[in-house]
Amino acid sequence: MANPPPPHSGGLFSGAPSAPEPPAKDENTATVEQLLLDLCKLELRDKTLELLSKNRENFQQDIAPLLWHSFGTMAALLQEIVSIYRPVARATLTQDQSNRVCNALALLQCVASHPDTKMPFINAQIPLYLYPFLNTVYKTKEYEYLRLTSLGVIGALVKVDDHEVIVNLLNSEIIPLCLLTMEIGSEISKTVATFIVQKIMLDDTGLMYVCSTRERFLSVSNVLAQMVDALVKQPSPRLLKHIIRCYLRLTDNPSACDALRTCLPTVLADGTFNGLLETQKDLSTRLWLHQLLHNIAMASSGRGGPYADLNRIMGR
Ligand code: TRP
Repeated sequence: MANPPPPHSGGLFSGAPSAPEPPAKDENTATVEQLLLDLCKLELRDKTLELLSKNRENFQQDIAPLLWHSFGTMAALLQEIVSIYRPVARATLTQDQSNRVCNALALLQCVASHPDTKMPFINAQIPLYLYPFLNTVYKTKEYEYLRLTSLGVIGALVKVDDHEVIVNLLNSEIIPLCLLTMEIGSEISKTVATFIVQKIMLDDTGLMYVCSTRERFLSVSNVLAQMVDALVKQPSPRLLKHIIRCYLRLTDNPSACDALRTCLPTVLADGTFNGLLETQKDLSTRLWLHQLLHNIAMASSGRGGPYADLNRIMGR
C-alpha cells in the first residue's frame, strides 16, 4: 500500500509530489538547445533523456514548444517508445529499459500539458503510441512505472476540460485500457485511470458514449464496484473520491441511474466509508456521495429505455 511515489507521477495528484530539483544552472549545465541536439546522438541519448526529464520544470523557458518543434526530437522520443514494444510484449522488460522510456514519456507529458502543443500532439495521434504500455497485465515495478507514466500523459491531456481532446480519446478506445488498469494497477495507477474515466464522462459526449450500450455501462460499473469492494480492506481516500464522482456522473444518464439501483455496491450506502470520508478536509466527496444516493433513490423503477431488460438479467 504505502509504496514510495514513483517517478513522474506528474503533479496530477498533489498527494505524491516529487522533491523539487535544484534549478538547472546555465554556467555548468548544458542548455536545453544543446541537450536537444544531444538527444539525436544515440550514444548520448540515455543520459540526455535523464537530464531533460529531471530538469523539465526548471529550465528558463517552457520546453514543450522546443520539444515539439525542434528537429528530430519527437522522432527520437517515439523511437525510444517503439524500441521496447517487443520486450514489453514478451515480458522481458528490464528496469533500465523501463526507466529510460519513462524519461521519454515524462517529456511527452510536457508536450501534452502545454496549451500550444496539446492539439498538435493529439492530432498527430501520439497517445496511440502509449497504448501498448497500458495493455499489459504484469504487476512488477518495471511495468507499473511504465503504466503509471503513460497514464500521466493521458491524464495531462484530460486535466483541462477540452471537448476535442475527449472526442479524440474516445475514438482511440482509451476507456477499455483505463478499465484494465483500474482492475490490475497499483493504487496510484488506479487513481489516475479513474480520474481519466471521470474526466471523459464529465463531457456530455463521453457520458453518452459510455451509456450507449448495456455492455459498456456494465463494464464500467463492474470495475468501479470491484474497486469499491477492494477499498474496504485497503482504504484510499483519493481513489474513493474519483470512484464516487464517476458514479455520481453516471446518475446523470437516466438509464444508467436506473441500473445503478441494482449494481451500486451496498457498502457505499451503509456508512462503511464514513470514517474514511471524514478524514478528508474537503467536503466535496461527502456531498457527491449524498447526491449520488439521493439521485438513485429518486430514480423511478420500471422505466423503458436501453437497459429495460438489465434488471431482469440481473435478477430483480
Ligand atoms: N470496443 C468496445 C466498445 O466500444 C470497447 C469498450 C469495452 C468500452 N468496454 C467499454 C467502451 C466501456 C466504453 C466503455 O464497446
